[in-house]
Amino acid sequence: MSNTAIIGLQWGDEGKGKIVDFLSDKFQAVVRFQGGNNAGHTIKVDGKVFKLSLLPSGIIRQKYSVIGSGVVVDPESLLQEIINVEEKGVKINSETLAIADNVCLVLSIHRQVDQFLENRKGINKIGTTCRGNGPAHEDKVGRRAIRICDLNDENSLMVKVENLVDYHNVIRKGLGEELIDPNAIFAELLKTKKWIFQYCRPVFEIIKKLENIGAVMFEGAQGALLDISFGTYPFVTSSNISLAQASIGSGIGFDKVHKTLGIVKAYTTRVGSGPFPTELNDEIGEFLRIEGNEVGTVTGRNRRCGWFDAVLIKHAIKISSVKEIALMKIDVLDKLPKIKICVGYKINGKEIDYFPSDSSLWSAIEPIYIELEGWKDKTQGVTNFADLPNLAKNYIRKIEEICNIKVAIISTGAKREETIIL
Ligand code: GDP
Ligand code: IMO
Ligand code: MG
Repeated sequence: MSNTAIIGLQWGDEGKGKIVDFLSDKFQAVVRFQGGNNAGHTIKVDGKVFKLSLLPSGIIRQKYSVIGSGVVVDPESLLQEIINVEEKGVKINSETLAIADNVCLVLSIHRQVDQFLENRKGINKIGTTCRGNGPAHEDKVGRRAIRICDLNDENSLMVKVENLVDYHNVIRKGLGEELIDPNAIFAELLKTKKWIFQYCRPVFEIIKKLENIGAVMFEGAQGALLDISFGTYPFVTSSNISLAQASIGSGIGFDKVHKTLGIVKAYTTRVGSGPFPTELNDEIGEFLRIEGNEVGTVTGRNRRCGWFDAVLIKHAIKISSVKEIALMKIDVLDKLPKIKICVGYKINGKEIDYFPSDSSLWSAIEPIYIELEGWKDKTQGVTNFADLPNLAKNYIRKIEEICNIKVAIISTGAKREETIIL
């Protein structure tokens, strides 16, 4: 099996976790390479429901699961996740989980400032998950973050904490919020130190192991349209999500990421604020939300729903050089009499086939649709392509044709086995 990157091609929640779990029996290792606990994956296996945020989804099959350097880790959240997953009978130890020692930490001050800034923005808020992910990335590039390896030496750790808190207190003062005592953050870090080192390995040891272990899966979080560079900025997350990040966020050379599988929902959803040209604020949008159980795994917010947008998918395919996709949740469309696909945009009378960067144009986007007959039949649970209704096959082939992409996997339900391989 070739080393493969799994990348979401919409606004997240495409079903990446299901596919990583489904495919992971063919891989020796699974590596998370970006994002943090803003990600939330629901995976249904043998009657159990796993909700993962930071743990690579390969942990369920006890694969060597790596949290790479590109991830920001909230230790409190990770510890709780480890406890939850172990309660479901999955063993987590130094054989199955490795965290790179140069990972930057998400702390209480990050969660707080995320919330303060969102509150301050009012109706202009991004709609972040308020998990501190954005502020933690800011501290990382601001070169004041605390990394796991910093917990080793407590004398130099205190100096680093003071530097970090000094910066945050400037912001907090400006926001009229209570100032932070560096000792409180120091104490938070000492609590983390007690347990995290059992999983933590020197990053170069992890890279060497990954290079020798066999097939590696790179598990993306979020989706291409939330990419900090190529997404619908500023309504994006704070990391890069495209293929190149698999290499940057793991330390594995780009030449060793052999294949990319894009994950695409058969319709579109997004959580939080921001443009969404094919959004349906009507009974069909509501139908998709209920039928698809479109509620955020992390925040419990309703996901906004709309038609499949081929313009966005083509953009996402390009930035990650995707050749094959897994098409998820086609069963959600089973009862619809008509299904639309957006094939282009019209802005002030002019047709374009890309998403404009300029936010002043967003409200003028009019999607151009083609309409297909719905199959009004059951795809849910189907495991052979031949057994799908003809009109469902037609929808899938149409997506392949419009997006110039091969559908390699079709998902017909949330359970591991409800999957078709082509
Ligand atoms: P991720 O963040 O990309 O891993 O996706 P999420 O787990 O946040 O959201 C996908 C949701 O759809 C989860 O609740 C899955 O259990 C569910 N799911 C995945 N594939 C399918 C499918 O083919 N059909 C249906 N009905 N649900 C699915
Ligand atoms: P998975 O991995 C869907 C969204 C948030 C918000 C924006 C910024 O489950 O697909 P952040 O907390 O990252 O600063 O929020 O990004 N967002 C996601 N939406 N799925 C995710 O992850 C997301 N991670 C972040 O809702 O709009
Ligand atoms: Mg999700």
